[in-house]
Amino acid sequence: MKGVDGRTVVVLEGDGIGPEVTREARKAVEAAAQAGGRTVAWRLLPFGGQAIDQTGVPLPETTLIASQAADAVLLGAVGGPKWDRGLPPERRPEAGLLALRRGLGVYANLRPIRAVTASRTASPLRPEILEGTDLMVVRELTGGLYFGPRGRQPGPPVRSYDTMVYTEEEIERVVRLAFRLAAGRRRRLTSVDKANILETSRHWRETVERVSREYPDVAVDHLYVDAAAMELVRRPATFDVVVTENLMGDILTDLGAVVAGSIGLLPSASLGDNGPGLYEPIHGSAPDIAGRGVANPLGAILSAALMCRLSLGWPEAAAAIEAAVDRVLNQGYRTPDLARGPAEPGIRVVGTQEMGNLVAQEAAAAAVGGEILAQP
Ligand code: NAD
Ligand code: IPM
Ligand code: MN
Repeated sequence: MKGVDGRTVVVLEGDGIGPEVTREARKAVEAAAQAGGRTVAWRLLPFGGQAIDQTGVPLPETTLIASQAADAVLLGAVGGPKWDRGLPPERRPEAGLLALRRGLGVYANLRPIRAVTASRTASPLRPEILEGTDLMVVRELTGGLYFGPRGRQPGPPVRSYDTMVYTEEEIERVVRLAFRLAAGRRRRLTSVDKANILETSRHWRETVERVSREYPDVAVDHLYVDAAAMELVRRPATFDVVVTENLMGDILTDLGAVVAGSIGLLPSASLGDNGPGLYEPIHGSAPDIAGRGVANPLGAILSAALMCRLSLGWPEAAAAIEAAVDRVLNQGYRTPDLARGPAEPGIRVVGTQEMGNLVAQEAAAAAVGGEILAQP
């Protein structure tokens, strides 16, 4: 059935737990969208290791072209031991991911880190430190060390190098996006760099200072990345928006995931100036648990909620999915990664599919409730 409000989403399930978690994310969107009379056409395409096996390359041209033409792209994860050896670097699954991000021009990767009910026991931090944590990391995604000149020179001794390069434009656009986000939140921006050592960081810091003059209502501070790692654990609730370069953002958000309780919880949205957004949980393909039906689908589900809000123009569906996740966690349901802490009364450990079904059920109910309230 083609609805009046239909969207096309390219789904790149990828490898390992990627297919398991994106399936549950699609269920949640279907449930929230249907309740509002909306339809989604899903286009599943090969990507990552799965694409290497089928076509020899991690990002087939047809996958990139279809992704660029879609309303949004929903991605699971790529990579795994099968493709870790014997492939040239540019044919690894991870190289496909970088090419996809570049090909979509999604330079800003938004990674919200929020304490939820489950965090109280799943996080190694004490509840009083965790309480109130609600921060947004804006990670630069298409520049820096990941994309600079690299190579290996024959020896002896063999030399290898990666280069961190940033243009002013690359820094400015992501910093400006972070300021805009902060202006709509608690108006605090922390810029993270290594300006005591790196020239790119000094450039970054100067650019943040310059752009900050356009946002007098946003309070800015700067932290070196090593200190930032420490402060994120020591006082996570004091941060609002954090902006940082590509590799530093990658590392700090895995750390942030532990603060929140599990990497399986964290979603992300990658945005450019135009074209579709890319939505992916921050975790990888988790080969150690793939195929066992125990992966936490909430990071993927919450990524799909961000997709509804930021690319599909369905804020009610996004809110319904997010409320559903909170409700299901409040009811005591946990995937195994969230149930590692001290035993709690009323906790029920469930698998990937059951967690997805519970969220979809609640999302449909929340969406229907929202529709009824929205009637004149
Ligand atoms: P990982 O995130 O896949 O796993 C790290 C640990 O977290 C593992 O113990 C895993 O079981 C656990 N974990 C991850 N997601 C989970 C979930 N949803 N529910 C429960 N537990 C979860 O990182 P890794 O092991 O370093 O990397 C594995 C592969 O994934 C590598 O090939 C790597 O390159 C790739 N990777 C891909 C992406 C991506 O596609 N965006 C991101 C990170 C890593
Ligand atoms: C992530 C991943 C990727 C990254 C890898 C797999 C290329 O760690 O999305 O966080 O470093 O960006
Ligand atoms: Mn990462």
